[in-house]
Amino acid sequence: MTDSYAVIGNPVEHSLSPRIHAEFARATGQGITYGRILAALDGFDAVALGFRDGGGKGLNVTLPFKHEAWRIADTRAGYAQAAGAVNTLKFERGRIAGHNTDGIGLVRDLMENLGNPIRDRRVLLAGAGGASYGVMEPLLREGPVTLVVANRTLGKAVDLVGRFEALHKFAANGVAAKSYEALNGTRFDIVINATSAGLADAMPPLPREVFAPGALAYDMVYGRRTPFMRFAADCGARATDGLGMLVEQAAESFFIWRGVRPETAPVIRALRMKAEG
Ligand code: ATR
Repeated sequence: MTDSYAVIGNPVEHSLSPRIHAEFARATGQGITYGRILAALDGFDAVALGFRDGGGKGLNVTLPFKHEAWRIADTRAGYAQAAGAVNTLKFERGRIAGHNTDGIGLVRDLMENLGNPIRDRRVLLAGAGGASYGVMEPLLREGPVTLVVANRTLGKAVDLVGRFEALHKFAANGVAAKSYEALNGTRFDIVINATSAGLADAMPPLPREVFAPGALAYDMVYGRRTPFMRFAADCGARATDGLGMLVEQAAESFFIWRGVRPETAPVIRALRMKAEG
């Protein structure tokens, strides 16, 4: 029987994951099927376990179920444990392995696709929701000189920064939680928008001066030019969306499931051409 996988979420109909994984499977000669599953907001466990019981080998988990996926996992590998979120489930020998590949996806896109090292750079992460939790550990392990988390609700940024206290040592000049107003006068080499503001055509209230000369502005939202991207470009930064992160996190999931690492560049190129065409 062909091994089957799917992405589960709510909503899920616009997910690009089926297209990405179909392309990975074709390029690597892996015979798999990959579908799309909509679960009711209170129905994640039943639907995910039902998929497994029907022979499914793994799931990608998207909003709003990443914490539920963390909860049902028997083991939590690598970055998933501290993140409190799982985006990849692997069903194997009666056990559920949970992984989080989002942060690896972001770091690979920044470093390999965009040629932006993180080591010794000043990094600003805007937002303190689930998306930020998923990327904190991989970012810190790359050794930025500072990592500042800014959020509208300061207490959430404080909680987030506190959760990763054991990893603060990786940033030479430390990790801090700040309000947007408190950023005034501070400059960063990499500014990452992990808020959901772009989905509502809004942006976090960043001061214009946060972008150091030559800064990269990265919005984790993909498939649209967000107000954050427009603002950053207007401030002289190089602005990009999160399409590369999406494809890179998918490649890492594919590797976890199949033991084969697909090439990502052709898939990113094809999706970008389609979005712009
Ligand atoms: P989740 O944890 O599911 O990702 P969330 O907790 O609602 O969702 O987090 C979304 C993030 O986007 C938060 O950091 C939120 O800021 P607050 O914690 O202050 O609510 C941020 N966010 C959403 N819309 C925003 C906006 N218009 N301006 C600034 N930040 C915004």
